Amino acid sequence: MKVEALSPTNGDYQLKDYSDTYHSFDWKEVEREFSWYETGKVNLAYEAIDRHAETFRKNKVALYYRDASRNEKYTFKEMKEESNKAANVFKSFGDVEKGDRVFIFMPRSPELYFAVLGAIKLGAIVGPLFEAFMEGAVKDRLEDSEAKVLVTTPELLERVPVNELPALKHIFLVGENIEEDEKYIDFLSKMESADPHAQIEWVERTDGLILHYTSGSTGKPKGVLHVHNAMIQHYQTAKWVLDLNEDDVYWCTADPGWVTGTSYGIFGPWLTGTSNVIVGGRFKPENWYKTIEDFGISVWYSAPTAFRMLMGAGDDVVKKFDLSSLRHVLSVGEPLNPEVIRWGMKVFNLRIHDTWWMTETGAQLICNYPSMDIKPGSMGKPIPGVKAAIIDDQGNELPPNRMGNLAIKKGWPSMMHTIWKNEPKYQSYFMPGDWYVSGDSAYMDQDGYFWFQGRVDDVIMTSGERVGPFEVESKLVEHPAIAEAGVIGKPDPVRGEIIKAFVALRDGYETTDELKEEIRQFVKKGLAAHAAPREIEFRDKLPKTRSGKIMRRVLKAWELDLPTGDLSTMED
Ligand code: WT7
Repeated sequence: MKVEALSPTNGDYQLKDYSDTYHSFDWKEVEREFSWYETGKVNLAYEAIDRHAETFRKNKVALYYRDASRNEKYTFKEMKEESNKAANVFKSFGDVEKGDRVFIFMPRSPELYFAVLGAIKLGAIVGPLFEAFMEGAVKDRLEDSEAKVLVTTPELLERVPVNELPALKHIFLVGENIEEDEKYIDFLSKMESADPHAQIEWVERTDGLILHYTSGSTGKPKGVLHVHNAMIQHYQTAKWVLDLNEDDVYWCTADPGWVTGTSYGIFGPWLTGTSNVIVGGRFKPENWYKTIEDFGISVWYSAPTAFRMLMGAGDDVVKKFDLSSLRHVLSVGEPLNPEVIRWGMKVFNLRIHDTWWMTETGAQLICNYPSMDIKPGSMGKPIPGVKAAIIDDQGNELPPNRMGNLAIKKGWPSMMHTIWKNEPKYQSYFMPGDWYVSGDSAYMDQDGYFWFQGRVDDVIMTSGERVGPFEVESKLVEHPAIAEAGVIGKPDPVRGEIIKAFVALRDGYETTDELKEEIRQFVKKGLAAHAAPREIEFRDKLPKTRSGKIMRRVLKAWELDLPTGDLSTMED
């Protein structure tokens, strides 16, 4: 297939193009950018906020925040003070010490960001939870991490089974009229009287920073632990790939419950001293364009599912807004369709730059950085200092244009440190030859561009969110009517994939539409709205291996009219 490459449009980018596939780069060069290179004292929150508050950026706006009821801005100096206050509040009323897990379960608000930075200043490990999580999902994560402190709202507290979480000692509530005792503390009133000066806890580069739970094809979600050292790559990719410059106004649409919302919603932009726009509330095309217009957004990082929804809203909506401030647009999370890139060229007159990485990789690895030619449909090329390859199941590198496992040579700075309390799981990501194996299949073309082909495992990507089929199946079989369930991702033009569940009922239950709806609600309430199957199909029995494993691959093949492959392990 011949593809037309799109060339860069304007100028002077921080990362120059290079034509070979592997461009060596010594990450040590980046270390000089941080104060710890000289002082030996490390803390990401200091580098992201306090350091700028001591320079010409002191009165520069660090955070613009807007939702339906608030419209606020905070300079780097103010962010320093607010995060210091949060650190003092956590220390005095939550006994937070280095290494403690502080979980944050609330919608976006300035307080969420003060809390994240404040906890990091104390050397705590932050666990951000997406506000859509329901009780089961919240419990799994707080239990596995043994979180000591939780910051949440009175509304969301209903989804926290406090009595079943013995490690959870203190709960900070962000809201009005909070009744306090030793366990429940009024965060806002404590913030008001807190000291804006704080002592930073200096840590090692390999000390814990953030714990992101993410799904695999089997088992419960796993806690991916990142450490302070990741700042090297957050910083450098914010320069090279996001191309952030002093005067940029940057908007990342991701929630901090996902890794994009922390690595590139908090760390990358602030490590580079950039003005960062955060918008709360639900997605509406008009609001999004209005955000770009009102704040004069110049660099915008979003996801294919959002671009497809904007595309679906029609080009007339775009014309109502002045989007002339935009100069650089990026995407992550799932394949970026060439059609979306063509739409971007038409309505913004800009290329949308796809980037590939994962929760586990901590930062961008394969990207369409601004100075290079874009081949629509390709994820781009590895950034300098990162070696990517397509390998077979034995770990041998495959030649160009052969499909195989997308793998990265170990050693990039933001790689996960471990899987929380599960070192064997962490080890299972690696293959001989120091390869980290991503679980994606892809090929590399003759020019060194990587092309995503799919997940090797059964993980579902729906609207840019990763959902483990096993987790949904486990929830489904908790429903009294369900005997067995198998869950697959089904291709969908807007959401990438939707979740489809095949369900075998227990004796005595009728296959009705009401029951389908009840099952859907059951998963929605028990897990999360995005994990609820959009399609449910009743079956008398499901294809299983002799050892009793549901064969999702067979369900998928039947659904999509594909060859079923080897059925030798299937039970009769
Ligand atoms: C999986 C990782 C990194 C934050 C968002 C997702 C898929 C990610 C792309 C892309 C095709 C992509 C992969 C990957 N993915 N970016 N540009 N093109 N697929 O993080 O939840 O950890 O999911 O998302 O399958 O393995 P995540």
